[in-house]
Amino acid sequence: MKKTLLVLMLVITSSFSNENKREIYKDASAPVKDRVEDLLRRMTLEEKVGQMNLFVGFEYLKTTKPWLTVEQLKNNSTNALYPGITIEDIAKWTEDGKIGSYLHVQTLKEANYLQSLVMKSILQIPIIFGIDAIHGNANAPDNTVYPTNIGLASSFDLDMAYKIARQTAKEMRAMNMHWTFNPNLEVARDPRWGRVGETFGEDPYLVSLMGVQTIKGYQGKLNSGNDVLACIKHFVGGSEPINGTNGAPADLSERTLREVFFPPFKAGVKVGTMSLMIAQNELNGIPCHSNEWLMQDILRKEWKFPGFVVSDWMDIEHMSDLHATADDIKEAFYQSIMAGMDMHMHGDHWNEYVVELVKDGRIPESRIDESVRRILEVKFRLGLFEQPFADENQSLKIRLCDEHRATALEAARNGIVLLKNNGVLPLSQDKYKKVLVTGINANDMNILGDWSVVQKEENVITILQGLKMIAPQTNFDFVDQGWDPRNMDQKKVDEAADKAKDADLNIVVAGEYMMRFRWESRTGGEDMDRSDIDLVGLQNELIKKVAASGKPTILILVNGRQLGVEWAAENLPAIVEAWEPGMYGGQAVAEIIYGKVNPSAKLPVTIPRSVGQLQMIYNHKPSQYFHPYVVKPSTPLYPFGFGLSYTTYKYNDLKLNKTKIGKNGNVKVSVRVANTGNRDGVEIVQLYIRDKFSCVTRPVKELKDFARVALKAGESKVVNFTVTLDKLAFYDKKMNWQVELGEFIVMVGASSDDSALLKQSFWVQ
Ligand code: BGC
Repeated sequence: MKKTLLVLMLVITSSFSNENKREIYKDASAPVKDRVEDLLRRMTLEEKVGQMNLFVGFEYLKTTKPWLTVEQLKNNSTNALYPGITIEDIAKWTEDGKIGSYLHVQTLKEANYLQSLVMKSILQIPIIFGIDAIHGNANAPDNTVYPTNIGLASSFDLDMAYKIARQTAKEMRAMNMHWTFNPNLEVARDPRWGRVGETFGEDPYLVSLMGVQTIKGYQGKLNSGNDVLACIKHFVGGSEPINGTNGAPADLSERTLREVFFPPFKAGVKVGTMSLMIAQNELNGIPCHSNEWLMQDILRKEWKFPGFVVSDWMDIEHMSDLHATADDIKEAFYQSIMAGMDMHMHGDHWNEYVVELVKDGRIPESRIDESVRRILEVKFRLGLFEQPFADENQSLKIRLCDEHRATALEAARNGIVLLKNNGVLPLSQDKYKKVLVTGINANDMNILGDWSVVQKEENVITILQGLKMIAPQTNFDFVDQGWDPRNMDQKKVDEAADKAKDADLNIVVAGEYMMRFRWESRTGGEDMDRSDIDLVGLQNELIKKVAASGKPTILILVNGRQLGVEWAAENLPAIVEAWEPGMYGGQAVAEIIYGKVNPSAKLPVTIPRSVGQLQMIYNHKPSQYFHPYVVKPSTPLYPFGFGLSYTTYKYNDLKLNKTKIGKNGNVKVSVRVANTGNRDGVEIVQLYIRDKFSCVTRPVKELKDFARVALKAGESKVVNFTVTLDKLAFYDKKMNWQVELGEFIVMVGASSDDSALLKQSFWVQ
């Protein structure tokens, strides 16, 4: 009997140690789930908690301001560093396998170096490198820089969104970067907020579709060396802060959240995004970073989100030093993890305090395991264990390759909106032989936009360079106004005004300044919120004085947020909104101005006249203008969906295949669109719907479909849409998602403005 027991015990022990020896997690052919479980059971608590932590890269750390005090750090969202901690300390933790992730690593050399440190650890769990690759991997040098999201959304081009994301993924992996903090899926309804440029605009439907294509492009199936992890952000409400400033409280009803702000995130989860960043703001009195309703009830239970949630930049800490809902950092970590947080961006104290919280019995280790599982799953799926390094020799063959450059140029062409043209555009080189060019954005790399580092000059075509390239017969006279809108020189403004008199035509390139390397001097981008939406500095004076020359003066805007350029809209013959058009922005602008390219983009936001008009959105409720403003207009400067072309389009024959449908039918809508001008073009045909009467108030119109239609001069095409029932559904009084019986108005046309729309009704019976 005793003998049998001994044999049995020996068998069990040896199979256990065999199992232990067989490192399933290193076996690429084993199922991901098994690899995760195998690895998890080998990890110490310290290693697990380390997987839940991010640090910034060493080179970035060196550029932060070591003289900042802890007190100053609290109010400084970018130049944070870790007081009392040296780079050597962080390197050692990496070697000990206690750091799972880095961000703000900007070179392949550094990424490979950090990865080599972690390869010295016992388990060799590769680092996942995150970066804000918002429009291409522009936040690192020598990458293709596409237009920012607002310009991309202006093209209404979903294929382009996919293509850019796919190319970005390849360029990222060529730099050993695996995780992009994009797409930003916030619905931007306040132009005071500086981050409008990194969003897809104000419409939940357009934001959702752009987001979905972007995620598909980044992630593919999340199983190859060319895929990167997307991170949908910031969840939620930060794009409608109570005073327009970044990080200020959001106070939004559940109805508004579910109707406006949730849909893009829900769509992002549905398409398979495996990471999500929580918003830094509080929502209805609870910081999002400790908001269990958002992280557990909505994300995990309702939407079944399988990925991991990451904090924003030291925002868990802000629950203690800003929101004051936790009396110290350790308590903040506790609250955040218990509410559903999986990863900490970024830094010190996390490892120490979270381990203590588990050892003290406040956080169960099983809760830590949940987060680590989610993170490890992504690392396995991305193939990091098999491919922890990237090849320096191959890297530059992929980044900035001709194909990617061509896409950047095409995207810029398709995203620039012609706002006004009394016929002066396209410019004739014969007529305008001498052209004055001036303004802060005329010859600056700022066209790259927010979230871009300075790129090599040879990889950027400024607007002045573009003009010279496209119109070589023209004599361009350039008066440099510097790059800094806050510190313009009166003498330079006067010099431009003088020279304007001698020119045949003037081009003023105005807007905002977004480049991050001059963080404090910017006027647009993250943390650059404004109490007005006018041009900063002497820019208005410059425009007016140049225009006073009596010579035609055209305005080109480079900016991320809407600008209320009312004077220019009334007095100048032409305005072009270039947004942040990226590395080939200058060429694309010039091609449009000189008619080599026919503009086609339309606004993904409403442009108000002034902040006094806010909130101004096209999909407002019926009573919004019950009593319009006195003295000044209640109409926008330019409506959502608006944009001109060098040709003209006519809409006719709006037809519905039926006017009555049951609760599971659909309506086919067709419209004839004719190019009635003498140039080929692309028209963005828009379909809106209004629920005529409903149990709760509904928007006056909502975008429900669109199509980019190429039309040769003189050509006409029938454009078809299908209105499915889900496009008619809304939350009723009891917050049930349902379609109500009754009349629905279909509106099809060239913009959200009523005068541009044909209308027909159908009934759900
Ligand atoms: C921003 C995030 C960004 C993060 C990392 C934060 O300040 O809010 O959008 O991803 O920094 O750069």
